[in-house]
Amino acid sequence: MALRVGVTGPTGEIGKAAIAALEEHAGVEAIVGMARRPFDPAAHQWTKTTYRQGDILDRDAVDALVADVDVVVHLAFIIMGTRAESARVNLAGTRNVFEATVAAARPRRLVYTSSVAAYGYHTDNPVPITEDVAPRGSAEHYYSEQKAACEAALTEITSGSDLEVFVLRPCIVAGPHAPALADAMPWNKLPGPVRRISQALPVLRPFPDPGTPLQLVHHDDVAAAIALAVTTRTAPPGAYNIAGDGVVSMSQVGEAFGALPIKVPRAAAVVTSEVLSALPFVPSALEWLHAGRTSVVMDTEKAKSELGWHPRYTSAETLAALASALR
Ligand SMILES: NC(=O)c1ccc[n+]([C@@H]2O[C@H](COP(=O)([O-])OP(=O)(O)OC[C@H]3O[C@@H](n4cnc5c(N)ncnc54)[C@H](OP(=O)(O)O)[C@@H]3O)[C@@H](O)[C@H]2O)c1
Repeated sequence: MALRVGVTGPTGEIGKAAIAALEEHAGVEAIVGMARRPFDPAAHQWTKTTYRQGDILDRDAVDALVADVDVVVHLAFIIMGTRAESARVNLAGTRNVFEATVAAARPRRLVYTSSVAAYGYHTDNPVPITEDVAPRGSAEHYYSEQKAACEAALTEITSGSDLEVFVLRPCIVAGPHAPALADAMPWNKLPGPVRRISQALPVLRPFPDPGTPLQLVHHDDVAAAIALAVTTRTAPPGAYNIAGDGVVSMSQVGEAFGALPIKVPRAAAVVTSEVLSALPFVPSALEWLHAGRTSVVMDTEKAKSELGWHPRYTSAETLAALASALR
């Protein structure tokens, strides 16, 4: 049966790739996207997609989005923001989407993109981590805490309903159309003239590498996983880790962005994280340093064997694709 799919956050890095993948899928008849900014699907040569401006904090707008679709894909989220503002949108808005989907008569499936961050940066996490490990989040990192809270809300809200719930947990997403990783580099926050000088001199872009390995996944591979979760008739609902094969080092990331990698002891990352945790107030942007403390490398075997997902790009190839697009 041809599916109608409602998507929150179609204007984002993952959203645009996901819509493109759904547009290509013969089993998808129509897509309705909703986010806050003005956006024209025709500008992307999309023919199945309509777009409406709306805020996930507005329950009426969410009710209207989910009323007439078979599958709801929830992508809308604030990733880089303040702790308070992101909590407002991510917790209340996500709850709206989950509750509205359960309450509506038509949707039979809900696909939610959680994150590797939902597991939390705990030293007793197994490496690699599988979906059997409960997402505990890390209270000191607002994004991790909110991702774990959203998964808990999802379980609470959908338990007892007939909805098929698919949770995807991607690692850091990158690629030519997902530059957020590069944008987050500290030198990109410098004022224009200083940033231009630092561009010419890698020595002005020191990049600490405490030896924590990173997984990356290409936006098109995440989009393929979303399209599979939307359309599969055989894969069981549940959580799926999503990451490119292999890992990259922080030094490789730094080099890809023209920085000067500097090896630092792992203990330095742990101490930095512990010091930050002890402070009464830490700017939200600095909370991302906690992510460098512990390796959270995911096992993606379940997505491959049960969802039938096969990433086309390794972590290293994803990084190279982003670096090449930046040049
Ligand atoms: N990027 C990654 O590395 C990564 C990794 C793992 C998981 N994820 C998860 O994947 C999902 C999508 O991420 P992304 O990378 O595509 O993020 P993104 O590029 O920041 O896009 C966020 C999307 O959410 C929409 N949005 C934000 N607030 C909204 C609101 N109040 N109402 C309606 N729409 C709203 C934005 O559109 P408007 O601004 O137009 O409203 C945009 O379409 C998120 O749940 C994220 O946590 C991302």
